[in-house]
Amino acid sequence: MKVLGIESSCDETAAAVVEDGKIVHSNAILSQISQHQPFGGVVPEIASRAHLEAIKPIINQALEDAECGLEDIDRIAVTHGPGLASSLLIGVSAAKGLALATGIPLLGVNHLEGHIASVFLGEQAPSPEEACPMVMLMVSGGHSCLMHVKQWGEYELLGRSIDDAAGEALDKGAKLLGLGYPGGPEIEKMAAGGNPKAIQFPRGLKGAKGQTEDGLEKKYCFSFSGLKTALLYHLKKCPEDLPEQQLRDICASYQQAVIDSLIAPLSKAVDALDIRSIACVGGVAKNQTLRAELDRMTEKKKIPLYLTEMAYCTDNAAMIAGAACRENSLSETGAFDVNPGLRIT
Ligand code: KG4
Ligand code: ZN
Repeated sequence: MKVLGIESSCDETAAAVVEDGKIVHSNAILSQISQHQPFGGVVPEIASRAHLEAIKPIINQALEDAECGLEDIDRIAVTHGPGLASSLLIGVSAAKGLALATGIPLLGVNHLEGHIASVFLGEQAPSPEEACPMVMLMVSGGHSCLMHVKQWGEYELLGRSIDDAAGEALDKGAKLLGLGYPGGPEIEKMAAGGNPKAIQFPRGLKGAKGQTEDGLEKKYCFSFSGLKTALLYHLKKCPEDLPEQQLRDICASYQQAVIDSLIAPLSKAVDALDIRSIACVGGVAKNQTLRAELDRMTEKKKIPLYLTEMAYCTDNAAMIAGAACRENSLSETGAFDVNPGLRIT
């Protein structure tokens, strides 16, 4: 089963060819980061125009890199939500046009299920049958949650961020620090050589009990708004022109606070549930300090850890194609439309 995946939910225009949910034949991505950088975040108008220009060349590139033509493709898969409406529309329209012209079956993929599928991509990746049930930490720029992946297609939301996503917290922190966009990699670069214990930033919902309004256990949830405020107040006390070492210490401490806020609820969920493995997916999963801490935690708990390969952490189309390769996914067939607020559970 060869699937052509198309992704345009935010600021990456991407297309990929994936076989059987595991073998990635191509993974073409055109990032718009440089176009959004001057504004310190994604500008929807700019994003949709850039998608429009890039979508056809990127699909052609994915097919060319995979050395195949549309006649070799069994399914076309496209992200139909969640994401920016005007960006989603470009990918969905292109995919619908392609499906109509060729007669190839079309599937609408939930972007978040795409992130789940990313952990099963690549030579070294496990199959869902081997790895599930698993607890998955999903950490991206738009979403942060803890998920009980009982099996492929069956998900229970354990907890989520009650305010910003982890990536968003890093992006906003970087903005306050005068660093570039996206903030995660910028903070990671500056954190090297910094002391993570230099400043005691708050750890989100540490020690929180009870349930959120929507019935989630607070012990499995995260919060980053207090951290952001703490950074703002800390910076007010610092000189305008921060010495480099001080900036490195702040970045390392801020990054550590984000990571600790993620690891504590994950650890509690792992202890409470009968699972086979732990996984981490999404753009923030690229962070080497987070990867190392997850490694340490899982070694202590003697439980396998599956980290999405670096190439499939940030938004890409291989994960979208990967999700659509497998049966029992949340993918929609028929007359689906874009759904910017699409949920997974
Ligand atoms: O998964 P993704 O590409 O987009 C969404 O679905 O939201 O994630 C993007 C997020 C951004 O917030 C970015 O700052 C963060 O991932 N990110 C990182 C790193 N690389 C990207 N965060 C921490 N460390 C990194 N190396
Ligand atoms: Zn994403």
